[in-house]
Amino acid sequence: MAVAGAIIGAAIGGWLNDRYGRRSTILIADFLFFIGAVVMASAPGPPLLIVGRVFVGLGVGMASMTSPLYISEASPAKIRGALVSTNGFLITGGQFLSYLINLAFTKAPGTWRWMLGVAGIPALLQFILMMLLPESPRWLFHKGREEEAKAIMRKIYPADEIESEIIALKESVETELQQKGSNTDKISITKLLKTKTVRRGLIAGVGLQVFQQFVGINTVMYYSPTIVQLAGFASNRTALLLSLVTAGLNALGSIVSIYFIDRTGRKKLLVISLFGVVISLGLLSAVFHETTSHSPMVSLQETSHFEDFTCPDYGEAINGRAWNCMKCLKASPDCGFCASATDKLLPGACLISNDTVKDTCHQESRLWYTRGCPSKYGWLALIGLALYIIFFSPGMGTVPWIVNSEIYPLRFRGVCGGIAATANWISNLIVAQSFLSLTQAIGTSWTFLIFGVISVVALLFVLVCVPETKGLPIEEVEKMLEMRGLHFRFWEKRNARSSSSQQEKGQSA
Ligand SMILES: *[C@@H]1O[C@H](CO)[C@@H](O)[C@H](O)[C@H]1NC(C)=O
Repeated sequence: MAVAGAIIGAAIGGWLNDRYGRRSTILIADFLFFIGAVVMASAPGPPLLIVGRVFVGLGVGMASMTSPLYISEASPAKIRGALVSTNGFLITGGQFLSYLINLAFTKAPGTWRWMLGVAGIPALLQFILMMLLPESPRWLFHKGREEEAKAIMRKIYPADEIESEIIALKESVETELQQKGSNTDKISITKLLKTKTVRRGLIAGVGLQVFQQFVGINTVMYYSPTIVQLAGFASNRTALLLSLVTAGLNALGSIVSIYFIDRTGRKKLLVISLFGVVISLGLLSAVFHETTSHSPMVSLQETSHFEDFTCPDYGEAINGRAWNCMKCLKASPDCGFCASATDKLLPGACLISNDTVKDTCHQESRLWYTRGCPSKYGWLALIGLALYIIFFSPGMGTVPWIVNSEIYPLRFRGVCGGIAATANWISNLIVAQSFLSLTQAIGTSWTFLIFGVISVVALLFVLVCVPETKGLPIEEVEKMLEMRGLHFRFWEKRNARSSSSQQEKGQSA
């Protein structure tokens, strides 16, 4: 329901952004966050809990597209990417922090009410602080409030850049008036698609958002407890610790992106990121294939050692001799595998899966498996998981949001960013709703392989359709899209790029 709310929030957010401004939209999102948190914390039962989730989702959807846009429009071109990346880092860092806070609250009475309720505090804080911040100067300018816009720009930009920024903004608003003698009150989809620059921007922006979800980040995250079990760290405590580690790696990756985004560029970061994602998915697919095809046997002798705990499905099976660990785990969610005490790869026992049995298994210093089977190569899966997150986070994790905040012509920026963010949340829902059926139908290994193939397609897409927007004044991105639709060349020499952008500047002056 939260993701469903986010889809709607992102769609409405685009319109709100163009109509009422970035600042007002963020204030509205904060209000929704706050209401959602309070409703959830005080919910007497599931129905209100769900209503609260929807409110929070609406806020998430709105904020997800508005914050990058607001930051990007209020930043000098040179450090624009870094500042939007910082937004990404604060999100992933915030997730890390929320795990820590939840860990602390597991000791408090009324646990979940506190966990859900504290989310209202940052919302309230941001609402108050946001009142002290100005509106995006670009949006003000676009709405004809030039003097206000100039006053704000004087505070943000170094003195020598203000004039050229204002000239570029004026031009962009004038082209808009030329293109259509009307005010931009009505924006229809056909009008968006008929405008060449917008169409090209949308292809890059929406494509990146969809691929961000379809390279399988949430599926990999979902399997991280399994992967840790495969690697032989089989206790429950490690699962919580693990979410801390993965969240920490994710946050660390975002810091990397802050440093490189304006130096290396958006496109190179995306390419490197996808390259790493493809390799990690290949590794994960291979390891999962190995563990499922070569899992340890179930031994009648070992199982009868835990007499009362034999898993019914195994006890009733006709040819129990042919059972291996994988067969035992797949037979029923109530079955678990207690590995041999001498070597986890030797035949073990197929037992009922509950806490008593798990403890009994551990007491004999054996390893307990419920999600995956013991394997020689389990640790490789752990490396695959870590590599995936480290590569995903600084590239595919943050760059789609950055590109979407700077690629559209000013007058369409809200609506187009909204469309792309909506596409992101819809893809999120599709992947989340389908991957479990997918793994049941074709197995985990093939599922990862499919995500790997999608990532290769994403790599080609980035190489061909995504323009490099590093360091370009926002208004010049539009000119670049006007000139060419495909963007094969991206390993340009630094001085070649800077001289060409100087030429453009010369023309516009
Ligand atoms: C686990 O299953 C065994 C066998 O059915 C039972 O004796 C035990 O009480 C169960 N423990 C828990 C915590 O449910």
